[in-house]
Amino acid sequence: MASINLSAKQTADFELLANGGFAPLTGFQGQADYENVVENMRLADNQPWSIPVVLGSDTGEAGETVELVGSQGEQLGTLKIEEVFERDLKNEAEKVYRTADEAHPGVAALYKESTRVVAGPVEAKTLPDHIDIVKPYLLTPAESKAEFEKRGWKSVVGFQTRNPIHRAHEFITKCALEIVDGLFLHPLVGETKSDDIDAETRMRCYEVLIDKYYVADRVVLGVNPSAMRYAGPREAIFHALVRRNYGCTHFIVGRDHAGVGDYYGTFDAQHIFDEFEPGELGIEPLKFEHSFWCNVTGGMATAKTSPSGPEDRVFLSGTKVREMLVNGERPPVEFSRPEVADVLIEAMAGVPA
Ligand code: ADX
Repeated sequence: MASINLSAKQTADFELLANGGFAPLTGFQGQADYENVVENMRLADNQPWSIPVVLGSDTGEAGETVELVGSQGEQLGTLKIEEVFERDLKNEAEKVYRTADEAHPGVAALYKESTRVVAGPVEAKTLPDHIDIVKPYLLTPAESKAEFEKRGWKSVVGFQTRNPIHRAHEFITKCALEIVDGLFLHPLVGETKSDDIDAETRMRCYEVLIDKYYVADRVVLGVNPSAMRYAGPREAIFHALVRRNYGCTHFIVGRDHAGVGDYYGTFDAQHIFDEFEPGELGIEPLKFEHSFWCNVTGGMATAKTSPSGPEDRVFLSGTKVREMLVNGERPPVEFSRPEVADVLIEAMAGVPA
């Protein structure tokens, strides 16, 4: 049997197709789905879907069944190719990423993919391999749903993150937790851009934070194997649909969700939810303003709840935080819990500033 070697991103897509994280999809999308997703954020049958899940490949013919080989060389299973088509990458970038700029990391990754697409259902023999620290948290959607049910949770808020967890993340997850039964911390551990902190370090941060600052009964830590697209608003919908599939009833969308650089407005990823009918996505967004430590009220807040001016709000740029960590300095406790800072300092020792 012929085979197709999958990239890290394609391997992650395979995992979510196989484990139900991308339901209702059961395979790489065909042309009718692809075109309606790109143009209208809907599958061919009108169900909401915001980012194409397609397999660019220079080989494989319609009617053929091929082996899929994961990025670590795993024999993952098969793809029954039902259709082969060509796609327009620039149009996809403009519609999905709202820019055709190659400097956008998601667009740059897209432009490296093949314009030739092979489509059809996948059959999994095994799921992709992962680094050790991730393994205990690899819940499938069926497993996370079973866990929520076991805990008696009727409402669960999902939290997407690709960064080390800081005080603003902690604040918005806890605000959300006040109004639902449980929190599903669901960091993305698939491919991210090279200057993002690696998944292994981030997992250690989530562990130390949960251990000391959350109530164990109220939190489940899982992982989303998916790759980041940095598609801002479109990716917020995509992230929400995936968390719906993992059993969440609510989903946190904060400032510049899944954004990068200046490509998206701060709250565009919240506004896009208004383009769907109420209830249509099967998950409710919980929208949060930009949060920060407020020196006046002595706590985390947003412009909704803090009467302070900018001088009393603690904001630190990513560059500043990185500089401090590389120099072995903890950022202020108003920004990061010391236990999390220490994990990051250890991981960044020896990294050039
Ligand atoms: S993302 O690419 O996964 O969105 P990140 O891990 O930084 O990046 O963010 C995770 C979630 O927290 C997103 O919903 C984001 O909008 C939200 N968020 C991050 N920082 C803040 C902040 N200071 N105030 C409000 N929301 C925030």
